[in-house]
Amino acid sequence: MTAARTTKDLLSLEDIAGDLPALLARAERLKAERTRGRLGGTRPGTNVGLIFEKPSTRTRTSFEVAIHDLGGHSIYLSPRDLQLGRGETIADTARVLSRYCDALVYRAFRHADEVELARWATIPVINALDDREHPCQIVADLLTMHERWKGRFRGRRLGWIGDGDNVLHSLLLGAAAVGLDVVAATPEKYAPRPDIVAAAERLARASGAKISLTNDPHEAARGANALYTDVWVSMGEEAEQAAREAAFQGFQINAALLTEAAPDAFVLHDLPARRGQEITDEVLDGPRAAVWDQAENRLHAQKAILERYLRPGPRRGSPTRRGR
Ligand code: CP
Repeated sequence: MTAARTTKDLLSLEDIAGDLPALLARAERLKAERTRGRLGGTRPGTNVGLIFEKPSTRTRTSFEVAIHDLGGHSIYLSPRDLQLGRGETIADTARVLSRYCDALVYRAFRHADEVELARWATIPVINALDDREHPCQIVADLLTMHERWKGRFRGRRLGWIGDGDNVLHSLLLGAAAVGLDVVAATPEKYAPRPDIVAAAERLARASGAKISLTNDPHEAARGANALYTDVWVSMGEEAEQAAREAAFQGFQINAALLTEAAPDAFVLHDLPARRGQEITDEVLDGPRAAVWDQAENRLHAQKAILERYLRPGPRRGSPTRRGR
């Protein structure tokens, strides 16, 4: 299925493709202000529900801290604690939570459930990862590259080494939107979805970015200005572990592969890492890893995203405004 395009929600990176320059500029400013001890406080009194069907270290914590910095309140809602876990529908959950909250952040197994929640919620729904995309991650990744390249994406090339997964999908869309070239190397069986590649190519035609796919990790690494990888086995894919570990042999960022990149290239990983599989200790703990800045940038990027979606004004869930 293709992602539903709405202005209310952030379900796909495509929903904010045109806003990325402004979001990155705002995130950089929020980061600088936080370093000086100013937390923002621009959305006082807002309430944000966090529905997480899967575990999370970075996304949950950075959203909770971001909401607190903005003067709001976060409510962590595990499906085990909600009636969702006992069969209440997503539609009914969406309609009720819309009466209390100003936005919902949703980490789902299925993109279809993300779309369903957004369809029935009268408040914004922000995708905190599903089986199709991870858009908030990619805003932080672009922020990390933006900082290191002093705001210039054009003429830079990112090499992806790994799975054609949700992270790569959002990355292709985000890179294409900002004019960053990508060479993505995946095993043949784990290529990105053709409809997302087609959407990225449409964005790339407008920005001038070049997007290319290969099955050769060396082609992605050669001359790249940054390398990026992700785990071989994502949450929910544990049954495929043996097959995936076999298919991904050679798709590892290690010191030898890094020598093929540009001399000043840095390394990204969205984390958590499986050390010794997709990335070695030597690279992850080495001076060319940008991963800790990248993880920190989840906070600043998501503050900018929340400001965009948590607009001040009348309560969004009010039935007098939305009629449901
Ligand atoms: N990168 C990322 O989404 O990390 P978490 O699963 O810890 O949130």
